[in-house]
Amino acid sequence: MTVIGTGYLGATHAICMAVLGYEVLGVDVDPRKVEALASGEVPFFEPGLPEKLAEALESGRLRFTTSFDEAAAFGDVHFVCVGTPQAPGSHAADLRYVESAFAELAKRIDRKALLIGKSTVPIGTAERLTEMVHELSPIGQELELAWNPEFLREGFAVKDTLHPDRLVFGVASAWAEAQLRAAFSPILDAGTPLVVADLASAELVKVAANSFLATKISYINAMAEVCEATGADVQVLAKALGFDDRIGSRFLKPGLGFGGGCLPKDIRAFKHRAEELGVGQAVAFLGEVDAINTRRRTRTVDLVRELAGGALRGKRIAALGAAFKPNSDDVRDAPALDVARLLYLEEASVVVFDPEANVNAHRAYPDLDYADSLEQAVVGADVVVLLTEWQQFRDADPAALGRLVAARAVVDGRHALDADRYRAAGWEYRALGRPHGSATHQLVEHEADATRLTLS
Ligand code: UDX
Repeated sequence: MTVIGTGYLGATHAICMAVLGYEVLGVDVDPRKVEALASGEVPFFEPGLPEKLAEALESGRLRFTTSFDEAAAFGDVHFVCVGTPQAPGSHAADLRYVESAFAELAKRIDRKALLIGKSTVPIGTAERLTEMVHELSPIGQELELAWNPEFLREGFAVKDTLHPDRLVFGVASAWAEAQLRAAFSPILDAGTPLVVADLASAELVKVAANSFLATKISYINAMAEVCEATGADVQVLAKALGFDDRIGSRFLKPGLGFGGGCLPKDIRAFKHRAEELGVGQAVAFLGEVDAINTRRRTRTVDLVRELAGGALRGKRIAALGAAFKPNSDDVRDAPALDVARLLYLEEASVVVFDPEANVNAHRAYPDLDYADSLEQAVVGADVVVLLTEWQQFRDADPAALGRLVAARAVVDGRHALDADRYRAAGWEYRALGRPHGSATHQLVEHEADATRLTLS
């Protein structure tokens, strides 16, 4: 098999498929990525992936190239894993990389083969691409197309690829389904649930899943706004809601909201596509989901400003975290960096520290200052703001940090710190959707899993 595009998704897919026993050729137009991967280096931070890359290269089943000629000659099935970023100046998805990957393959493939899209695309793309590849291919309709959406999370990419919670095959023929079954046989043999679908349903599953997750996060963050106006505590609320199996506690974590290369652009592209299809009303709520999410960022800046005494100009702010979530170096649409940028625009002196994402963050926002350690970032800070919940930040000792800062004031943008410990160490602690005073509500779990509300 070939895997076209060796970013977060494609590199992980190529490596894991080789580990599972397939002969894999990874293809990318960027020679630097190809060289890095071929020499055993993963060009981004993903726990567990470097070890799997070493294993795959060692096996001799994984190679990389920039040549589409080689790819067309090599593969029986071709996975297209290139990016579909938000188009410049629009909410639509930019499909130029997907179109180009399918076209480059189609022009060259001269024996029966299957092209499989994994990239997240607007509904109807697979059908349109099918016509395009039939026209371009020397073998016409013998070149078939299928869609196999990917649900991997950064930080858990290896686990999500080798042990997915489900597989979805969007196919237009029994032959295509058989090829996909063969391409995933070790994973199917392990009992992974499979949904076989038409092309449009397979495309829709992905955006519908990401929209649901984004909605769940924005739902609890909307409740945080209500909490702020009433003195209620959103953490207590989220915990109590989560015990209802029908609601569940996952993706109900309040705070700074969602970011990254998927959720934000996927909900925008979905809304845009639904409007084109004449069903914009059905997903109009996604506009609110997006707006609630954006408000979390400005509201976090408000809290920092309040703790800084009402104005940010000239204040030294330690911004802990830049990645869009922990265990990632990805800063695409990162709420953390956005908050740092907004603080900077109000003329604060912002010092950012992220354990893995400093380099990417510096590339995106060279005007901010970057520290090499947590301690260096907080020295002399008027306010510390936690923006990405890395374990290192959770584990930090509030008393030790307190000796480094200019003022013991912390905004916990991710509800990740122990408020009572910080307050006991003399810090003024603030978090979105939580009461300001020294009394914090705590949920104490009984042995019998019931819960009791106490006021400490
Ligand atoms: C997401 C989907 O989970 C995955 O299935 C899809 O394939 C790609 O998009 P990913 O972007 O890696 O994966 O991140 P995810 O773990 O979903 O987190 C997205 C964002 O939501 C992060 O910024 C995270 O901090 C935030 N989040 C998550 C919350 O704010 N609250 C939560 O309760 C959960």
